[in-house]
Amino acid sequence: MEKYERISELQLKLSELRKSKTIGFVPTMGALHQGHLSLIDKCKSMCNITVASIFVNPTQFNDKNDYRRYPRTLEKDGEILEKAGCDIVFVPSEKEIYPETDERIFDFGELDKVMEGKFRQGHFNGVAQVVSRLFDIVNPDKAFFGQKDFQQVSIIKNMVKQLNLTTEIVVCPIVREQDGLAMSSRNMLLSDNQRKEAINISQALFYAKQQAPGTPVNEIRDEAIRRINSSPELKVEYLEIVDANTLQTVSGWDDATEIFACVAVQAGKIRLIDNVQLK
Ligand code: PAJ
Repeated sequence: MEKYERISELQLKLSELRKSKTIGFVPTMGALHQGHLSLIDKCKSMCNITVASIFVNPTQFNDKNDYRRYPRTLEKDGEILEKAGCDIVFVPSEKEIYPETDERIFDFGELDKVMEGKFRQGHFNGVAQVVSRLFDIVNPDKAFFGQKDFQQVSIIKNMVKQLNLTTEIVVCPIVREQDGLAMSSRNMLLSDNQRKEAINISQALFYAKQQAPGTPVNEIRDEAIRRINSSPELKVEYLEIVDANTLQTVSGWDDATEIFACVAVQAGKIRLIDNVQLK
């Protein structure tokens, strides 16, 4: 695996490879786990060359403490990527990505007004800034994103459309721990007790899936919230049952063709998200 810190050197390498090979891209913020590795595997199966990036993007953190606390395990990440058969890793500095302050404001209509967008003001604008910048640098044929960040996928697809990019977005399923907890870099920050109780998040979503579409939407929603909040360490920030296309809440099972339950939970200072398809 080759490691690049400079855009110019990465681009020189990629321009050579591009003549005969397809380029796949997996953007990450590091602290890698099996969820990330599933994207690498998918990328390897669909593209000749797999490029990963590791960059903890400051512009997408609305909470400075969350940015400060975010786990950074660069050396271990390199070993994990190497072992996974990643071809190139791009590890830029902040100056490399943002030589000047990125002032761009994206318009995502209603997509970033709900759920994560509502509770993390400016988060998706920061995601769009960094992903558009990374796409501009890497210019991948395909880029791989996890369904774990359900709303992020909608935002990225919308951004690709707005900017007329040719990169194809490939969405990969959520990878879970054995007990059902969605894998996340933030899980390693949980206390033993928080980690134990965190199982109730996916359990509540699986309960919702089991009940749909026999039970009214709002009854399922209320019960799922109640189940999570019954754990002393957990507090639901939002739990919404939404149309997968518009991300707007539905009131009945016939309101949309694809319906997801999306949740954000505060476990002490740590914020966890998860989702499951109900229809
Ligand atoms: P990060 O949280 O590191 O996630 C990188 C990619 O891995 C995202 O596409 C995310 O959805 C996916 N991922 C994380 N956990 C997963 C899981 N349990 N199963 C499947 N996929 C999972 O998302 C970001 O970084 C950033 O916002 C980024 C897109 C890199 C922009 O900074």
